[in-house]
Amino acid sequence: VNPQASMEVVKGIYDYLKEAAGMQSQLETWAGICRSKLLATLFYEPSTRTRLSFESAMERLNGGTLGFADPQATSITKGETLADTARMVTNYADLIVVRHNWAGAARVIAQHAHIPVINGGDGSHTHPTQALADLYTIIRRKSKFESRKPSLAFIEGLTVGICGDLQFGRAAHSFALAVARFGGNLIHIAPKPLQMPLWVLAQLEQCHEQIPLEVESITEVIDRLDVIYVNRLQEERLPPNMDAATVRGSYLLNAAVMKHAKPDAMIMHPLPRVNELAYELDDDPRAAYFEQSANAVPVRMALIASLMGLEQLILTQPPERDI
Ligand code: CP
Repeated sequence: VNPQASMEVVKGIYDYLKEAAGMQSQLETWAGICRSKLLATLFYEPSTRTRLSFESAMERLNGGTLGFADPQATSITKGETLADTARMVTNYADLIVVRHNWAGAARVIAQHAHIPVINGGDGSHTHPTQALADLYTIIRRKSKFESRKPSLAFIEGLTVGICGDLQFGRAAHSFALAVARFGGNLIHIAPKPLQMPLWVLAQLEQCHEQIPLEVESITEVIDRLDVIYVNRLQEERLPPNMDAATVRGSYLLNAAVMKHAKPDAMIMHPLPRVNELAYELDDDPRAAYFEQSANAVPVRMALIASLMGLEQLILTQPPERDI
């Protein structure tokens, strides 16, 4: 690990989240900066939030979108490879976002496309732009962009519990790494078969010198948490030798559990939810999960602008509004 390089990455992420905050307060101002640019959305797996928020982000910047949400309607059914698809789409768009059920699919696309590629979720590996929206939501609720600390550890001192399917939940993996990178303290909460995989634990230890406490039930730690991040059981990813019935319904955040939480704790969830997050919490002021999905739009707007090389435009002079 190169600490200097690592700090550059952190600074870059911080700066672009700050751009997102600027965009969110003046969404209309930035309309027009992606005029004549095209975003290709290659969704080989179902999605509601990621695909639609990327499309919303691009169209709010007056860019265009093209792509597919049903791979069965594409030439993949004829045996076309990811590499060839990447080569084709390079000629049709300026930027790609891809979701795929293979870990590493976005990397393969990036190796064969000559335009920027965003990972919109790859198998049970990672979901980096979800983590950016999550981090942004914490900063907006718990910290101020202006109170930037020299170390950039701007969620330092916060205890963040990640609860649920930590083994197969890609959003949980990216979120854990983001929390550690920005100074939060992690507690992993999962039934034994769903605990965090070794590759995430290794990165947390080697890159961030963090060995999270691991517990099996949220009730053990609920009163300590500033942020409670729940995710669903990823039934579609369970290996054939794991019986879903043994873990289904094994964790639940509801009003009874939240009675023991801090009054200013945040409840987060990348969504969709199934039965691990009670609907009765939706009116709890600590619920931040719909805010997370809303925040994904300015965060993805800033990411698109940054990848299109337009960040200087954002930082210096807002473009004229589109009429
Ligand atoms: N959070 C998230 O990735 O949701 P979708 O699967 O609906 O895109």
